[in-house]
Amino acid sequence: MSSQSTLSKKSAVADPDQSPETKPKRKRMTVPGFMARKGGEPLVCLTAYTAHVANLLDQRCDLLLVGDSLGMVIHGMPNTLGVTLEHMIMHGQGVMRGAEKSLVVVDLPFGSFEESPEIAFRNAARVVKETGCAAVKLEGGAEMAPTIRHLTRRGIPVMAHIGLMPQNMNVMGGFKVAGRDERDWEGIIQDAREVEKAGAFSVVVEGVTEPLAEKITQSISIPTIGIGASAQCDGQILVFEDMIGLFPRVPTFVKRYGNMQDMIEGAADTYAEEVRARRFPGDDHVYTLSKKDG
Ligand code: KIV
Repeated sequence: MSSQSTLSKKSAVADPDQSPETKPKRKRMTVPGFMARKGGEPLVCLTAYTAHVANLLDQRCDLLLVGDSLGMVIHGMPNTLGVTLEHMIMHGQGVMRGAEKSLVVVDLPFGSFEESPEIAFRNAARVVKETGCAAVKLEGGAEMAPTIRHLTRRGIPVMAHIGLMPQNMNVMGGFKVAGRDERDWEGIIQDAREVEKAGAFSVVVEGVTEPLAEKITQSISIPTIGIGASAQCDGQILVFEDMIGLFPRVPTFVKRYGNMQDMIEGAADTYAEEVRARRFPGDDHVYTLSKKDG
């Protein structure tokens, strides 16, 4: 059985409430469909790194991002700089097995796209071919416009990422909120305009003040997706593990919608206690002999 077939495909289940007559199957979100939501109902985006999480989030999101934050969240790295193209492809394949409806975007990791538009195309094409995702995301503003143009003109939709760019942490001296000083605004607004002009279909705006986020959103006609950038964006994205309380860091912009850390610790404590007391496995969890006929 393929891993894909073990995942819940609600549309295939014979449930009258879910039947095609009563609930038409939602088609997968496309890049033009995503762009058409500019200024409309806010776009719901989350990160996903694995097939089963993608499957759970799929019905509830417009876009799933296989972000390079997986280096920290899944692989315990101190930052995103050590993430490789192979990591992104492996997790992208898992997410594509789990997601049917959401637009799936895979991050280009540090070192895979900055050198030249040609190298960026080669690596982005590998990501698209080997995962089946619809688009890639890359960090950078005006300086990345030639690369964004090169990719989009050759069939690879690009989501840009401006403001706080985690791959730039060594240049910036850490993770710094952008636009606290109004004198910095023009450069960031220009970044947004340049990535739009180059053909980006959307732009992640990370770690910027509310008035700057509002200005950026008003200055371009592609959707802005905010993370730590207020409600003045066309949509929102959070790292899933931050949102469910499974990752220890809690930056200001994260709202915890669950507390999975406590749940996991509680479940592991109870399991350990029951194993040590020989209460698990109990009668319900053991195999019995086959019944003899007659
Ligand atoms: O890598 C990531 O998860 C991201 C989001 C924070 C936007 O780029």
